[in-house]
Amino acid sequence: MSDIAQDREADRKAALALLFDRSAPTYERVGVEHFNDLGRRLVDHAKVTTGQRVLDAGCGTGAVLVPAARAVGPEGEVIGVDLSGGMVARAQEEAARQGLLHQVRAVVGDAETVALADVPTAPGSFDTVLAGICLFFFPRPGAAAARYRELLKPGGRFGVSWWGRPDPLWDPVYAASAPYGRGPSSHTLPATSPFRSADALHAMLDEAGFDEAETAEEDCVTHFAHAEQWWRWVWSTAGRQFWESVPDDERDKAVAAVNAELDTLKAPDGSLTMTSKVRFTLAKRS
Ligand SMILES: C[S@@+](CC[C@H](N)C(=O)[O-])C[C@H]1O[C@@H](n2cnc3c(N)ncnc32)[C@H](O)[C@@H]1O
Repeated sequence: MSDIAQDREADRKAALALLFDRSAPTYERVGVEHFNDLGRRLVDHAKVTTGQRVLDAGCGTGAVLVPAARAVGPEGEVIGVDLSGGMVARAQEEAARQGLLHQVRAVVGDAETVALADVPTAPGSFDTVLAGICLFFFPRPGAAAARYRELLKPGGRFGVSWWGRPDPLWDPVYAASAPYGRGPSSHTLPATSPFRSADALHAMLDEAGFDEAETAEEDCVTHFAHAEQWWRWVWSTAGRQFWESVPDDERDKAVAAVNAELDTLKAPDGSLTMTSKVRFTLAKRS
């Protein structure tokens, strides 16, 4: 890779770390169950068992880390790695609150390369690697997958959760905001992304040396008690990036345009429901 490309990737990662640092205080704390539910489901799909050593790539505030720590028990170990110091601090706090510090360690680092100063990362030293709703942020997800294959024992498994199609009923909400900001206002992906289809992701995993890749698609149903809660939720996620890009003098107009669309989606009690598709892909290191 050229120096320029390397610098560009480093800049992108630094910007992501800052973005998630800004989300960290409210992430999964606005009264909406979302990432924690998906984290539990990823751990179930991966069939994490007692005594395993697990790597949780892009651990965030612990949506995957905490259920994985429960699954491995005190004889096991879960290492969480995330670029954002704010997210890692919250994951570590949550593990302490739930009495799981014996088997959990969350550290700041790049989960694409997993080169960690004081965590043993010898080849073949993990039973399971998990990446919950984060691999599509990595500049080189294929390189990350190859690294995870190296870190896994023979027979070990890599599990990743990622987005299928967004709720089509919400398309007008995102369309209403799109003219006001920069960057994607919803889950949009480049045409070459390995996350454009299950087949494309399986091909990436195959190239990284994994076998038997399989994807299950499920509903991700998210309820918001009222529109104000949806707004708080957007600002607690990476979705805030779009809204941060809206110029101050356009903000009121953009918010009004979105609120008009939200009004059309409200149930009689004012609540909102979003039903997206989430995918769980598992692959094996033979
Ligand atoms: C949407 S959050 C998901 C967090 C958590 N896994 C969950 O399920 O709630 C994405 C996370 O990926 C992290 N992330 C993105 N790129 C990363 C990288 N290269 N290395 C480590 N963490 C990364 C972000 O900092 C953020 O915490």
